[in-house]
Amino acid sequence: MAGKLFVVGVGPGSSEYLTDIVKYKITKSRYIAGYSYTLSIIRHLLDPTWQRISEVTMDSQDDIYKNIFDRMETNEYCTVPFTGDVNFSESEVIDRLLEIFGKDNVEMIPGISSIQVAASRSKVPLDKAAIITFHITEDIERRKEELLNAIRNKRSVILLPRPWPKNRERQFMESDIALFLRNNMLQTDDLDVWVFEFLTKGNERTFRGKVSELEERQFDALSVMVIDQVKRRTYLEF
Ligand SMILES: C[S@@+](CC[C@H](N)C(=O)[O-])C[C@H]1O[C@@H](n2cnc3c(N)ncnc32)[C@H](O)[C@@H]1O
Repeated sequence: MAGKLFVVGVGPGSSEYLTDIVKYKITKSRYIAGYSYTLSIIRHLLDPTWQRISEVTMDSQDDIYKNIFDRMETNEYCTVPFTGDVNFSESEVIDRLLEIFGKDNVEMIPGISSIQVAASRSKVPLDKAAIITFHITEDIERRKEELLNAIRNKRSVILLPRPWPKNRERQFMESDIALFLRNNMLQTDDLDVWVFEFLTKGNERTFRGKVSELEERQFDALSVMVIDQVKRRTYLEF
């Protein structure tokens, strides 16, 4: 029987946002498997003299996870780090890990999501916003409807766009989103927007303007978009 798997959130960009419990789980794990981006955030905690560290890609991950599961002893641990929070926009991979390792063998430890950092930067509270990820492989048509409804209902929106470098058709980046909203009769030159790139990474960039201005702009895959329709109301009003 395999040992335990820790599925942990790191970043979203800086190791300053790592929680102590995640650091502890990483340092006691014999196996570490992650994408190069997440491994770079925890590199300073790793010790290759006894830890087995595997860099995974979309294509190699399944074989690597199965191989670790087969090799692990009962008293050993494995950590798979994910960007930001494990509970947001990661389920396509995490569901596979639950399948391979068995649900009861997996402990999930939350991290700080890029959408939380974007909420903090824009001062748009999560509870006053629709939170939508387009960064998924499955169909996004229903989520596009959700986006339109949220904006029409005057809610703010915090969203992850969908980069898809190998297939322009499937991409839904900031410029595509702006065009989609205009084509659906929304007054995009009147909608306030923020785009945050490289959050907490040290080279952070912020765009602030109107949604219509996004049509001509390119942003990095590592970006979060906030449509800001917040009405600020303090407790003095109630
Ligand atoms: C697969 S999703 C993972 C989201 C992650 N679980 C989270 O909670 O932030 C990857 C997307 O998250 C967003 N993202 C992650 N880290 C980011 C960062 N440091 N700055 C901006 N966006 C980031 C980008 O939109 C990126 O394409």
